[in-house]
Amino acid sequence: LKEKKEVNVLCLGLDNSGKTTIINQLKPSNLSLYGPLSDDWKHVSQTQTQHIVPTIQEFKVVINVLSFTVFDMSGQSRYRNLWEHYYNGDKLRMVVAKEELDTLLNHQDICSRRMPVLFFANKSDLREALSSVKVSQLLCLENIKDKPWHICASNAVKGEGLQEGVDWLQDHIR
Ligand code: GTP
Ligand code: MG
Repeated sequence: LKEKKEVNVLCLGLDNSGKTTIINQLKPSNLSLYGPLSDDWKHVSQTQTQHIVPTIQEFKVVINVLSFTVFDMSGQSRYRNLWEHYYNGDKLRMVVAKEELDTLLNHQDICSRRMPVLFFANKSDLREALSSVKVSQLLCLENIKDKPWHICASNAVKGEGLQEGVDWLQDHIR
């Protein structure tokens, strides 16, 4: 029997993009998808705060052989006031998302590491949703050469697309 591997997962995205919804889908009540959980995870889950907007929360989830500690960071940022006053369109949100992604990938703690990066093109159920191919073009993901990356369309409310993403992540953690 192998010991579970401990990994940290940062869940980052603009405000209101669905991070907390995605993460809540990975929590126990929704985990029939992932199988039974260990008792220590249940203990951790009981200490979780419920959906608070904006959210910052940390919790642990055990999926197969991996123990994920997920940091759900609020998407609120210095841009929020700008959005409220000027940015209504999703196209502009994509520009801001790309800017934040570039800042993240250029950060000294990130750029030197080969960590896998999983993107969810979330809210794919909305009529105006962009395809995952379109999102990857707008974010210039093909420019990420030094890290494995993957993008999945998802509907976090229904939990669709999340399993594919988590499976990919699991396969790319070594
Ligand atoms: P912050 O914590 O403020 O950064 O937001 P967040 O990224 O955690 O977003 P959150 O999960 O709170 O979702 C924001 C809203 O979008 C909620 O009303 C969700 O129900 C909704 N939402 C999330 N995912 C989806 C989705 O796939 N489809 C649709 N239609 N709505 C979604
Ligand atoms: Mg949140």
